[in-house]
Amino acid sequence: MKSIKIVRTVEALRAHLAPRRGGERIGLVPTMGALHEGHLSLVRETQTRCGCVVVSIFVNPTQFAPHEDFDRYPRNLEADAAKLHSLDAVDLIFAPEVKELYPQGDATRIEVGGPSKGLETDFRPHFFAGVATVVAKLLISALPDFAAFGEKDYQQLLVVRRLAADLRLPTEILGVPIMREPDGLAMSSRNAYLKADERKVAGELNRVLKEVIAQVRAGKSSIADAEAFGKKALLARGFQSVDYVAIRDAATLAPVEKLSSPARVLAAARVGGTRLIDNMAV
Ligand code: PAF
Repeated sequence: MKSIKIVRTVEALRAHLAPRRGGERIGLVPTMGALHEGHLSLVRETQTRCGCVVVSIFVNPTQFAPHEDFDRYPRNLEADAAKLHSLDAVDLIFAPEVKELYPQGDATRIEVGGPSKGLETDFRPHFFAGVATVVAKLLISALPDFAAFGEKDYQQLLVVRRLAADLRLPTEILGVPIMREPDGLAMSSRNAYLKADERKVAGELNRVLKEVIAQVRAGKSSIADAEAFGKKALLARGFQSVDYVAIRDAATLAPVEKLSSPARVLAAARVGGTRLIDNMAV
């Protein structure tokens, strides 16, 4: 069994990675903790490419708006470390305090254009600058060969790829497929907020996306009609509000009028107080 070291500072992280650099490939799995099977699949995927796997656990304040769930976001480092330990794949956990990554506050932000436009940004305008800033800090701190991100946050994955390319970071960004519950609900730390009746409704999100895909693939409806169908179906099946159901170009997230290149359907909707997102290849 690998023993996992937990480090709290960038200096300690760098000191631990220095002797391994060059000899073996280093992989980073950035997380906010509350680990579930989805995160563990990121670790497994990273392990297939890297001899040294680092998981960061940091609930990043700059990606939450003041009214969002930063304070109540689940935090349990001990339980997370135990899950990672049972995988026997992780060498190091990097679990900094906020002061460590934002020592003088957050005067410096990174804004990524391109794939951050629209969708999540229309409803969470603060989100991608916060994500890009913290991911840049993590990548610069660890300088990994690979970093893994889940396709569940598909727009985030494209934003991080663009960030790494634009900043010429020496890290390959891996996108890892979504892990789903038996009813198809995409795994997410926020699923823990769902009450029993809300959990049932939540399981409809992936079904509706499949129906939207079936409609456009069969040529039965236009892209716009299929998106409108998706929104209506989510409301009919118990979601309180729908931020978007959108079919977009899979590489750029630009709107599409017909299926001439790979596309993705993406959705965000609210059940009870919980906002869920999901996406699928069309
Ligand atoms: O997807 C997440 O868990 C977070 O947005 C990330 C990438 C760890 C940055 O805080």
